Amino acid sequence: MPISNDEFRAALGLFASGVTVVTTTDAAGKMHGITVSAFCSVSLDPPLVLICIEKTTTSHYAFEESAIFAVNILGEDQVAVSQHFATPYLDKFDGIEYEIGVLGAPLIIGAIVNLECRLRHSLNGGDHSIFVGEVADAVFRPGRPLLYFQGDYRKMTL
Ligand SMILES: Cc1cc2nc3c(=O)[nH]c(=O)nc-3n(C[C@H](O)[C@H](O)[C@H](O)COP(=O)(O)O)c2cc1C
Repeated sequence: MPISNDEFRAALGLFASGVTVVTTTDAAGKMHGITVSAFCSVSLDPPLVLICIEKTTTSHYAFEESAIFAVNILGEDQVAVSQHFATPYLDKFDGIEYEIGVLGAPLIIGAIVNLECRLRHSLNGGDHSIFVGEVADAVFRPGRPLLYFQGDYRKMTL
């Protein structure tokens, strides 16, 4: 018998993750950003990471047509930034502090890590697409990550 949606969610909710905002710029130059927890490292040589983006999101097409994306790993004080980029605003970057990276994607100021990636593979992942990127540049600073566990934001207690 196949696993139910509720069982799947409950099981996967026990996997603690960080929280990222992934950004890109579409062919017309419009900036896009989505809160994403489905992020992980793939390979050290070459340095590859992946993100999973739901096909129904407004910004999905932008990640398909762009050759680059950035992954911004949020710090523990950036719950509001996470909630902002999980909401479908017309202009996601209105009121957000950012700068444009060397590859052209917006980098969120205050994130503990900014990874700039060149898109290497786009794969079908059911109702999501899996985008694999090669990391071209990484900026990181001391700080504690924002965590997500069982549907809620958490902070490290160590
Ligand atoms: C903590 C958190 C994690 C999320 N992780 C993902 C994810 O990994 N992939 C995804 O497609 N959406 C994820 N979402 C939902 C998107 O951020 C949300 O649907 C967003 O509004 C989509 O952007 P758009 O439709 O405005 O383009 C997450 C939301 C939250 C709050």
